[in-house]
Amino acid sequence: METNLQKRKEARKPLRIKVISMGNAEVGKSCIIKRYCEKRFVSKYLATIGIDYGVTKVQMRDREIKVNIFDMAGHPFFYEVRNEFYKDTQGVLLVYDIGQRESFDALDSWLAEMRQELGPPTNLENIIFSVCANKIDCSKHRCVDESEGRLWAESRGFLYFETSAQTGEGINEMFQVFYSTIIDLCENGGKRPMASINVGFTKEQADSIRRIRNSKDSWDMLGLKPGSSRDEINRAYRRLAVLLHPDKCIAPGSEDAFKAVVNARTALLKSIK
Ligand code: GTP
Ligand code: MG
Repeated sequence: METNLQKRKEARKPLRIKVISMGNAEVGKSCIIKRYCEKRFVSKYLATIGIDYGVTKVQMRDREIKVNIFDMAGHPFFYEVRNEFYKDTQGVLLVYDIGQRESFDALDSWLAEMRQELGPPTNLENIIFSVCANKIDCSKHRCVDESEGRLWAESRGFLYFETSAQTGEGINEMFQVFYSTIIDLCENGGKRPMASINVGFTKEQADSIRRIRNSKDSWDMLGLKPGSSRDEINRAYRRLAVLLHPDKCIAPGSEDAFKAVVNARTALLKSIK
């Protein structure tokens, strides 16, 4: 059995962790890291060539942590360089630009690249991902709203933050929670603690919200064929209303999805009168 003294010694030992950044070129990965480590922002774009490596020490809770940061180039051209840096990672900064939908849509392919490079048995479950919806200072160019980004992240058990490397908004908070969650992971034997895996809403709820958001018309929204009967409309409506009612569903975007379903049902019932 461990004595208290052993435990305290253990707590004082610096923890070494490896963090990588991922996301399309120009989304702001290097600037987010620079903002946190050097407290400054560079507006001129200097593309990362392959990989930038740095070490930083952080004091967190009762521990000193030594963070090895591998800042990856987002450009496809550098795939060969970055592919060997995925292994032995505890934390990933997964960044997109809220004004560039392609960079949000590309998040899945970044996960796929990582999974492919790690090879089986791949367990992304035990890596802490922090999704940064970056450039929130450019709100007038925004095309991916907060609930959409948050839903994508939280339905996978990832952290989600709105950040601006330019103003610094959200950056410190993001790193604090990110590092603290990585410490929890390390103290839990390298396994993600259950509390952070349990997201509080179901895959069915998340998938329905996504489907409703992307639906092309009211029929599609209720998951019905055009021309379905009044009964079918009411049944589909009731199923979704129970699934997404704001009193029962805490998934990001559920309130808007619920309202959209109510409106779709009203419009369809009117149209078949
Ligand atoms: P690669 O290294 O090519 O993969 O790009 P990157 O993701 O590291 O992007 P980088 O940090 O170099 O930033 C790209 C451009 O976006 C630069 O011109 C930055 O000044 C700008 N930028 C980064 N973050 C922000 C932000 O929060 N707000 C605004 N307005 N611009 C930003
Ligand atoms: Mg970069």
